[in-house]
Amino acid sequence: MMEILLILAHPDQSSLNHAIAMAVRQALEHEGHRVIFHDLYLEAFDPILPVREIPRDGLLDPVIARHCSELIRVDGIIIVHPNWWGQPPAILTGWIDRVIRPGVAYRFVGDDSGEGVPEGLLKARTALVINTSNTREERENQVFGDPLERIWRDCVFGLCGVHEFHRSIFRIVVTSTPEQRATWIKEACDLAVRIF
Ligand SMILES: Cc1cc2nc3c(=O)[nH]c(=O)nc-3n(C[C@H](O)[C@H](O)[C@H](O)COP(=O)(O)O)c2cc1C
Repeated sequence: MMEILLILAHPDQSSLNHAIAMAVRQALEHEGHRVIFHDLYLEAFDPILPVREIPRDGLLDPVIARHCSELIRVDGIIIVHPNWWGQPPAILTGWIDRVIRPGVAYRFVGDDSGEGVPEGLLKARTALVINTSNTREERENQVFGDPLERIWRDCVFGLCGVHEFHRSIFRIVVTSTPEQRATWIKEACDLAVRIF
């Protein structure tokens, strides 16, 4: 049994993203894992980092303190979100700002002023990011450079020492059939069950 954190960032409860997150949650629970699930929009997560939370020993809002205590102890992390402007939705960027904190997710070794070498502090060794998009793969890679890959693999999980990184991109959503979406949902579940 593993404890897995599942974060969903999509405002529409009838979206493909929502369907993927719910199915992945169910599949993992079916395997006997414990899933800690957060639907950031449904919970009205406040993405704005207050000044007082910036210092490493800053005073945390209780909601953020809870998110941090979950993040640090789970065995695996799954993030589900659409590609919006080559970035995560702002609510999720704010979750990164507030929850992936120094002293919780990473620390700087050698120089505590923030210029040392980052060292990961999370227990989780494995992360899965599931994205949806309306852009063809060649165009995403050649024109935009797939920024979400860098953001999650290197800037976030790599820095925090979560080196077993998996990512699924389902596209093109806007022209997809219900059958295609069902196949994607199953693929997401199969991958989550396989890696956790
Ligand atoms: C604000 C906004 C920005 C978007 N930016 C992009 C983008 O940069 N690239 C892209 O491929 N799709 C973009 N899209 C399309 C979404 O990725 C697409 O609607 C979503 O992946 C479909 O999944 P869903 O049915 O779960 O919403 C954008 C959509 C919105 C609402």
